[in-house]
Amino acid sequence: MKNITRELSEEHQNILKVIDLVLAECDKLEKGKEPDSVFFRDVILFIKKYADGFHHAKEEDILFKAMLNNLNNMHCNPIPVMLNEHDAGRQYVKNMTNALNRNKTSDLIENARGYCFLLKNHIYKEDNVLYPMAENSLTDIDKEKVEKQYKTVKADDFFETDIKTFIEKLLYSKAL
Ligand SMILES: [Fe+2]
Ligand SMILES: [Fe+2]
Repeated sequence: MKNITRELSEEHQNILKVIDLVLAECDKLEKGKEPDSVFFRDVILFIKKYADGFHHAKEEDILFKAMLNNLNNMHCNPIPVMLNEHDAGRQYVKNMTNALNRNKTSDLIENARGYCFLLKNHIYKEDNVLYPMAENSLTDIDKEKVEKQYKTVKADDFFETDIKTFIEKLLYSKAL
């Protein structure tokens, strides 16, 4: 049987690596370190173009829509909560950008942590509840369609070809 959520879970692993790095950086800021604006701008770029523009686009435009078409096979509808969490994440990112532009370190810490904890929790729910639900409720025909549609969603060229390098660079910049 086809698996249509494994690649989404793999994308979660990329997102979680960046989240761990951001949380570690927030701890340092709290102890008095100056915000590294290059790092935070790269993080915001990653969230907008990869986590949201690529990964959430695949969920919202493809997987969730397929699930909504199969609601009668599911015991509840978790999609509205997932969509609300995506929106809440976008708000945190807006606030992070504002905090960075205005040099408001405490706002930056608060919103960066808010984003990280929200997404960690969201990813946990998707990996453990929502994705298994999708695997169980969609037919093989639906799954084939979903797989084909995924291929139409492109990340920015940069992330499409080089997501691993981008993350390694971020990790390396903080390992020094
Ligand atoms: Fe999601
Ligand atoms: Fe996700």
